[in-house]
Amino acid sequence: MVAVIRDNEETPAPALDPDRIPRHVAIIMDGNGRWAKQRGLPRTEGHRQGKENLRRIVEACVEFGVEILTIYAFSTENWERPPSEVNALMSILELVLNQEVKRLHKNGVRVCHIGKMDGVAPHLQEKIRKAVELTRNNDRLILNVAFNYGGRDEIVHAVQEIVRSGMPAEEITDEVISQHLYTRGIPDPDLIIRTSGELRVSNFLIWQGAYSEYYVTPVYWPDFDKEELRKALIEYGRRRRRFGKIDEQVEQES
Ligand code: IPE
Ligand code: IPE
Ligand code: MG
Repeated sequence: MVAVIRDNEETPAPALDPDRIPRHVAIIMDGNGRWAKQRGLPRTEGHRQGKENLRRIVEACVEFGVEILTIYAFSTENWERPPSEVNALMSILELVLNQEVKRLHKNGVRVCHIGKMDGVAPHLQEKIRKAVELTRNNDRLILNVAFNYGGRDEIVHAVQEIVRSGMPAEEITDEVISQHLYTRGIPDPDLIIRTSGELRVSNFLIWQGAYSEYYVTPVYWPDFDKEELRKALIEYGRRRRRFGKIDEQVEQES
């Protein structure tokens, strides 16, 4: 029998181990501007392509069995970009809220928001609240949108709430602080992915990411597709999380 070998036959993607899928994945969706610049396009086109990519990645997360996906959509520092870019980003968010939420709802995705509403246009605030309300009973995937989010702002907000409650200083614990963050009730991210190669946190989940695994890829966000996500999850599966302990202890616990 003659074996037919095709030159361009794709090698199958390595399988994902269902026991090593991160429960909570967080993504710093970075590189839209550079993606556009590389193609001689306006930065806003990069943001538009980024929005399209988000849809694909949400679907891939459902397929791979990720339970929670947190995305960094707009930071408290992003207000300092040129007004035309800020306006374009707000319009894209509005498009997502107008067009994508129904689809997400149909697919069983629960939308949550982390960040502050102060500074967000009232009509957008209303649409965010409605999206959260509409999808609140869905349980296929939690899509946690970090919009007008900053890790330092979140901690300041938590401290203010705790002080206002009159809680005695000695009662303030890790747990108490966690319960006053925007992410209260959501487990810490297992894996934080940053696209576009930057090696920094940029004020994202600075408390919650204390023991998260980090994965940085040079791929720009609009090109970060399902196969790129698969690579990140495979790499996560190879990591050994020690949480400050030694290997032997971790082995005994598992
Ligand atoms: C990420 O892409 C999107 C937002 C920050 C809203 P950038 O706009 O930061 O793209 P680069 O980093 O300039 O390429
Ligand atoms: C982080 O990206 C914020 C988002 C992806 C929404 P930035 O592009 O704003 O981060 P820096 O400025 O490069 O640190
Ligand atoms: Mg950037």
